Amino acid sequence: MSEFVEIFEVGPRDGLQNEARMIPAAEKIALVDLLSGAGFRRIEVASFVSPKWVPQMADGADVLAGITRVPGVSYAALTPNMRGFERAIEAGVDEIAIFGSASEGFSQANINCSISESLERFLPVCDAAKAANIKVRGYVSCVTDCPYDGPTAPKMVADVTGRLLAMGCYEVSLGDTIGQGTPETIATMLDAVLQTTDPAQLAGHYHDTNGLALKNISVSLEKGLRVFDAAIGGLGGCPYAQKPGERAPGNVATERVHDHLAGLGVSTGLDRQVLEKAAEMAREMRAE
Ligand code: HMG
Ligand code: MG
Repeated sequence: MSEFVEIFEVGPRDGLQNEARMIPAAEKIALVDLLSGAGFRRIEVASFVSPKWVPQMADGADVLAGITRVPGVSYAALTPNMRGFERAIEAGVDEIAIFGSASEGFSQANINCSISESLERFLPVCDAAKAANIKVRGYVSCVTDCPYDGPTAPKMVADVTGRLLAMGCYEVSLGDTIGQGTPETIATMLDAVLQTTDPAQLAGHYHDTNGLALKNISVSLEKGLRVFDAAIGGLGGCPYAQKPGERAPGNVATERVHDHLAGLGVSTGLDRQVLEKAAEMAREMRAE
């Protein structure tokens, strides 16, 4: 395979949102600035959610104000509702992401509403983003398994993905939020989604809790996906994806995805030395 595959860096958001330590904005800014020199096209740097729900992301505006923007890099943030959208626009994001779920239990736990309520809530966000000329990415969580409801029906993933695309998302990222997906369940899920969706509109967002994320990426490559989310240094997880007392599932590490793809002869356009430095910084942030 000699192709280009994009790694969408989510560490500063999906990674740092789940750290127990309150990481100062200056440290987040330093990490983003380092990542900006690695060759990414898109970096998710913040989340404009309720600070009561995720205090670790309360300083998103400071992060966006403090980073040195590299031309050609799109700096993205999560926006669950209109309030988040307005805050994100004020902070100067380049693109936003709305995030839904294919399972009811996770939808309730993560954004305090049902799947259908969440889709209604996203509509005005998409309309406002369109009016402001801001691109919208969509996430679907729990695409194979949910920590509350068990296995997810592939048809639910296809349906929610279709709804997000229909409301204007340019790409939908399919989240194995708790890292329980296997090459088999990921393939079955993708077969269902691909019945109605072009692989060019999809990304794989696989957490590596069970050490299967790279295998899940390989099977997704076979199905035609060419964008994968990853977090530098394997930072992260989602605080609402685990039951109290359970360990946070980590994101698949960017540098491992890079090496895996390189081994398959696939180019990511990323500078491996810069990735190594950033991974080191991420590990230090986690350890402190
Ligand atoms: P709610 O409590 O139902 O909402 O939360 P509400 O509208 O009743 O608001 C409650 C309070 O929050 C109010 O403040 C609002 O003003 C405030 P109060 O009157 O009590 O002082 N509020 C906000 N403040 C700032 N920014 C906002 C905002 N919205 C409301 N945008 C809500 C609903 C969606 C807000 C909440 O559930 C929430 O913030 N959830 C986010 C949880 C989260 O960030 N999870 C992690 C990201 S998702 C993820 O990691 C998965 C992913 O990686 C993919 C994968 O792995 O599958 C993307
Ligand atoms: Mg995630």
